[in-house]
Amino acid sequence: MRIATVGKGGSGKTTVVGTLTRILAESGIKVLAIDGDPNPNLALTLGIDRDATSRIRSIPTNIMTLKKDAEGNVLKLADGTSRLEMTISQDTLIDQFAAQAPENIKLVIIGAPPEGSAGSGCMCASHRAVRGLITEMTDYGEHTITDMEAGLEHLKRGTARNVDMMLIVAEPYYRSLEAASRVWSLAAELKIPLVYVVANKVRNAADQQAIEEYCEKHGMPILGTVPNEEQFMEAERKALSPIDYAPNCAGTNAIRDMAKKITEMKAPIPA
Ligand SMILES: Nc1ncnc2c1ncn2[C@@H]1O[C@H](COP(=O)(O)OP(=O)(O)O)[C@@H](O)[C@H]1O
Ligand SMILES: [Mg+2]
Repeated sequence: MRIATVGKGGSGKTTVVGTLTRILAESGIKVLAIDGDPNPNLALTLGIDRDATSRIRSIPTNIMTLKKDAEGNVLKLADGTSRLEMTISQDTLIDQFAAQAPENIKLVIIGAPPEGSAGSGCMCASHRAVRGLITEMTDYGEHTITDMEAGLEHLKRGTARNVDMMLIVAEPYYRSLEAASRVWSLAAELKIPLVYVVANKVRNAADQQAIEEYCEKHGMPILGTVPNEEQFMEAERKALSPIDYAPNCAGTNAIRDMAKKITEMKAPIPA
């Protein structure tokens, strides 16, 4: 299954992705985690220690080039976007760039755009690299899980088109839910087969009710609810991975329930 998370900054995408990845990998299966956020911090959440984290080489954004035919014409996919190909093999990419996380998890980090492009605000190369990797690295492991940057860019540019499942992480307050419903509409436009809301940082029954009512009104199914978890904040303060710090707290167990649901689902067969 190719899974990606989206949602407002701070909603808990990295916490959910990192913990979910660890739980899915507990059975020993191979999982590839992709950090597509220009400010990457998935490594720590996955449980890679600080020293090892600082040594991870990010993948240069020019890893993907446009795929051309013999005449040099850029090939297009059915949806009109350009076909991409990797400039190195999948094995080389894993050898050179992937960091080993606990269990059978490999992490790759997509680099920020090259120096000099700062200020131009252009993230095209970075988005293209994320899209290309999600599309190309399908046969690496059982699951490919991508932590995307906050905002709608990945959806607007169709970067997320090639995922099977999108998890929209939302907090129980109005602006977060409004953001979730905008993402929801874009995900529908991109025809992503499985789209769910993850209700995060839910403090009490009133929070739960607010999120349920909003999601029901907008026809958005909720995959699961993660409580506001003091232990996650404590792990953050200690710069530890939440699952290593509190493997059986209510927050981790809530993500465990979601992982179980995901494992029981089948990735849709591509059209
Ligand atoms: N369920 C939760 N309960 C309490 N704190 C949480 C929860 N989920 C995430 N957090 C905290 O919220 C902050 C932002 O989370 P993070 O996963 O980095 O969000 P994002 O990747 O969406 O920016 C972090 O300090 C994290 O520890
Ligand atoms: Mg994040």
